Amino acid sequence: MEINKDSLFDESIDTPAFVYDETRLVNLVSYVNDLACRVGFNVLFTLKPQTFPDILELLSPYLDGFSVSSLFEARFVRDALEKPGPLHITTPGIRSDQIDAIAEACDYIAFNSLSQWTMFKGAVRDKVYCGLRINPQLSFVEDGRYDPCREHSKLGVPLVEMAALARRQDGLLANITGVHFHTNCDSRTFDPLLETVRHLDATAPELLRMIEWINLGGGYLFPEIGDRVPLARAVDILWSKYGLEVFLEPGSGIVRDAAAIVSTVIDIFESDGKTVAVLDTTVNHMPEVFEYQFQPNVLGQTENGPHRYLLAGCTCLAGDLFGEYAFSEPLEMGSRVVFTDMGAYTTVKWHWFNGVNLPAIYSCTKTGGLVPRKRFAYEDFAAQCGGDCHATL
Ligand SMILES: Cc1ncc(COP(=O)(O)O)c(C=O)c1O
Repeated sequence: MEINKDSLFDESIDTPAFVYDETRLVNLVSYVNDLACRVGFNVLFTLKPQTFPDILELLSPYLDGFSVSSLFEARFVRDALEKPGPLHITTPGIRSDQIDAIAEACDYIAFNSLSQWTMFKGAVRDKVYCGLRINPQLSFVEDGRYDPCREHSKLGVPLVEMAALARRQDGLLANITGVHFHTNCDSRTFDPLLETVRHLDATAPELLRMIEWINLGGGYLFPEIGDRVPLARAVDILWSKYGLEVFLEPGSGIVRDAAAIVSTVIDIFESDGKTVAVLDTTVNHMPEVFEYQFQPNVLGQTENGPHRYLLAGCTCLAGDLFGEYAFSEPLEMGSRVVFTDMGAYTTVKWHWFNGVNLPAIYSCTKTGGLVPRKRFAYEDFAAQCGGDCHATL
């Protein structure tokens, strides 16, 4: 079932707005949960793409835990949920003044490098399950900016190095109970996951034999992947050959299709032969549009529609543009423009550039009603600008 589109045009919505669909979210997370039960892995939701507490609460009953990237994310999930389940963390950014609090808040730490492990093992031993992030040195992402397996990667210990340490039973690996890898992004097939697991099996069997758990990361768009056999084979190798407990930590695959950004046309004019429609939102409310330079999906767009517009954001940046879109009906002042597939990496990355207010957050409930969940105001902007003169130094 798709996101409830009617609700997105509801007149009562104050735009710009981020509207998430509770039914769609539950459908997506239960789909992954069901697959996990059949195939035999644990599902963690990673907070990277979405941290809104009501969404975390909605997902929580279908999850085996959460994964986080910082002490603040770990504290937040513990504050937001009564029983979040086990928390996993991996980050290149562990600081010595945070390690005790991280060990307090998290249950599993996958250290990002051997030096990070050496620095902090004394502080965490006996408090958490200790693991290492590995770099399987098998790239699937073309753009090097997003490829954790790129040359000179900062993410994880190179597999060849780990394999050599495990082969000679190096004391450096004492107390390491698991490994973590994350190597993909928006994949519509599980083939790379199986290829990576086969690569580990062939290159580092001694490593897999000495650990108890393995976290296969995120990067897979679960609901869009028809062939689940490679996933089942990958988990089967790890479980039946090595007895490993397997975790996956999807983000986008659970939340991306469950939310939209709803905006309103606030100006229309001609510019060098094209009609520009300025919206009350901006690429800064969905920063990946600008970062990755992709054109987001808009409801009602038709390839050859007679009414064409350059949809523009409302900030001073000339390149604050969404792209050219055609519609069968003309846009007017006050028309709604709805960007879909906005559930991941929007709310966590949006910012206040130019002082444009952030979108209000609404949920479309299971009965189809719209509930305002959070509004931002001038005071939030002022605080973000450092305007709180009573802040402690
Ligand atoms: C370590 C790790 N795990 C999980 C994820 C989630 O990936 P996605 O949202 O593509 O599923 C990411 C994304 O960058 C990541 O870096």
